[in-house]
Amino acid sequence: MRMLIFGPPGAGKGTVAGQVTSEEGIPHISTGDMLRQAVAAGTELGRTVKGLLDAGELVPDAVMIALVGERLEQADAQDGWLLDGFPRTLPQGEALAELLARTGQRLDLVALVEVADEVIVERLGGRRVCLACGATYHLTYSPPKVAGQCDRCGQEQVVQREDDQPETIRRRLATYHHQTEPLIAFYEAQGVVRRFDNSGAPEEPVRAVRESLASADRGR
Ligand code: AP5
Repeated sequence: MRMLIFGPPGAGKGTVAGQVTSEEGIPHISTGDMLRQAVAAGTELGRTVKGLLDAGELVPDAVMIALVGERLEQADAQDGWLLDGFPRTLPQGEALAELLARTGQRLDLVALVEVADEVIVERLGGRRVCLACGATYHLTYSPPKVAGQCDRCGQEQVVQREDDQPETIRRRLATYHHQTEPLIAFYEAQGVVRRFDNSGAPEEPVRAVRESLASADRGR
């Protein structure tokens, strides 16, 4: 199974992807997580991209294409993957298409997670993430059992992301609408897009994605 999870910032891509990949036994490859890990580790990549991430701006295509290309060569990605946060521009989509064609693989599903912008602003304002293990919480809908402490790894490193400030959220949404949304038509032309509403409880899109996967004509 090779699939993309696609949608605006804060639509719930990470939440849905986490459940789907643990059920499917495929790696959840989140480019946002990869970049944040590089920032936390202080690598050259991390130092290069930190300002862009904090400002809610996109990292250059060449950097992202190389990063994802290397990741997809790793052993755990040979039998399938879920890409979360990539591609985000048409050049990234074309690069992924070339990579798949070169390796004789194809995309089984592009899951488009949809939520209205006003809901996103509220959700991202309340989001908290664990810096240690990446677990995601929401202060109202899914808070950690002990404030500031991660239920999953126990570390007291549950904080607000730098790019979850109201002004930055608006900028990320505008970037999505201008630069990323055109990819929907790119994938609709390939007949692989399915839309999933995440305005209600996240169990709904997870169930719907599960049903789509069960009926998908899976390629190699
Ligand atoms: P990235 O980490 O990919 O951020 P994003 O796309 O903006 O998505 P988010 O992680 O903010 O949200 P999500 O959709 O995963 O929602 P979540 O599940 O957390 O990228 C960050 C940055 O990295 C970019 O801005 C860019 O700078 C750079 N970057 C990454 N990839 C790149 C690329 N390919 N090219 C260039 N630059 C790139 O849910 C949000 C909140 O809502 C959570 O609190 C969650 O608990 C809650 N929630 C989820 N579902 C529900 C529900 N149904 N009901 C109530 N609450 C819910």
